[in-house]
Amino acid sequence: MSTVTQEVGGKTQRKLLNHDNINPHIRRVQYAVRGELAIRAENLKAAIAKRGRNGFSFDSVVNCNIGNPQQLKQKPITFFRQVASLIDYPDLLIPENQSKVEALYPIDAIERARKLLKQIGAVGAYSHSQGIESIRNDVAEFIKERDGYSTDPALIFLTQGASQGVQNVLQIIISHSNVGVMIPIPQYPLYTATLALYDGKPVPYYLNEEQDWGLDIAELTSSLAKARSEGVEVRALVIINPGNPTGQCLSEHNMKEIIEFCYREGLILLADEVYQANIYYPAQRPFHSFKKVLKSMGPEYDEFELFSFHSISKGLIGECGRRGGYFECTGIDPKVVDELYKIASVNLCPNVHGQVMVDLMVKPPKSGDPSYDLYQNECREIYESLRRRSAKLCKVFNSMEGVTCNSAQGAMYLFPQITLPQKAIEAAELSSHQPDEFYCLAMLDATGVCVVPGSGFGQKDNTWHFRSTFLPQEELFEGFCGLLTKFHNEFMDKYRD
Ligand SMILES: Cc1ncc(COP(=O)(O)O)c(C=O)c1O
Repeated sequence: MSTVTQEVGGKTQRKLLNHDNINPHIRRVQYAVRGELAIRAENLKAAIAKRGRNGFSFDSVVNCNIGNPQQLKQKPITFFRQVASLIDYPDLLIPENQSKVEALYPIDAIERARKLLKQIGAVGAYSHSQGIESIRNDVAEFIKERDGYSTDPALIFLTQGASQGVQNVLQIIISHSNVGVMIPIPQYPLYTATLALYDGKPVPYYLNEEQDWGLDIAELTSSLAKARSEGVEVRALVIINPGNPTGQCLSEHNMKEIIEFCYREGLILLADEVYQANIYYPAQRPFHSFKKVLKSMGPEYDEFELFSFHSISKGLIGECGRRGGYFECTGIDPKVVDELYKIASVNLCPNVHGQVMVDLMVKPPKSGDPSYDLYQNECREIYESLRRRSAKLCKVFNSMEGVTCNSAQGAMYLFPQITLPQKAIEAAELSSHQPDEFYCLAMLDATGVCVVPGSGFGQKDNTWHFRSTFLPQEELFEGFCGLLTKFHNEFMDKYRD
């Protein structure tokens, strides 16, 4: 192994492990959501904390770069945290504490915590590697109720967020470096990052911005044909529905076409459905799971191979930091399921707090329970507010010179396109940035609003976008949107051709 000698802080250091000789696949990984902009935003936050507003035209940094609702002060669901806190400190459940606890907690939270603790044993212990059996049973019940088709809990894997599930599944699919996986462009960078890490080939297909970021089968067909003509062994297709960063929600008809396409072409389908509860036009664009649509297509499709992913990080829960999720295997060879179990065992088990939250997500209070009304009200408030915020921000973007923005049918993001003046593009080149990166850095410096440049998600050549969440608190929206509009006008005036 080559060693290097390098100067660090005036000292000479000899390193056996250095940037040149680490796993090259890791060097290739890019993750824009936490890239240069996010780092600059963190530095700005630290500077404001130290110096106050001095020298800045804003009071605080607003992180619109990542779908992390509780970072932007979304309140956790009360019932979920009540149960989680009781499970974390089981002494609260001993008879001596009963009257004190009953004064603080509703009876259904106490009963649920007792029941979960009985099933789990202890949250501080490793669980079954695939996830606690009773929680997988509850996930199976949830899927059956959602789709109308039953499922086998043995085919459900609880994971540390959907990310870990996606990584495990891609890892098992990428059997050699010429394996291709079709991914949408724009895409959530988990996919390109994981493909880089496991040395697979991204096979991009473009979403149609003019058609509300819709998905054309003709585009899938030509992208697949191109990759195959280049000798790539394309094995799988990733669909993100509702979309990130694009917010589209697929129609049932379109989903059937996608299933037929995969079936015809011999592709495994990976359905990333983490935004299934973030649907803003439920009458026109309801969420359908791929599992349900597949099952509705009859026995001809019995052998179809599908992985579906879900998470506690999104929806109206936003418990990103607890790292919980699951994936369901449909039509997957039992021996492959065994190998997935082996990978899960290498990680011992998904964290138990995340598993508990998955249980609460799939089995919330039901009608008649003491916590039902509060749970419903909290969910409704978050949902209605997300809808209002998405519409407001979309309107603001569309009112800006040279900006067009599709409304979000689902998820938590807007992905506006900006037509940048030539002078801005030249200034970006001079500063060694992509034009959209240059625009987003200028936005951050002028407003404290941190978004992610479109180049981090992929976009058609010579088009420029950025992704912004609509998660900032509603009461901050006036000020925040005002700052964005002022910045944009000044930017355009400065660089107008
Ligand atoms: C489309 C999509 N899939 C997966 C994830 C990963 O979510 P988590 O690992 O927190 O469940 C995200 C997170 O933003 C996402 O947007």
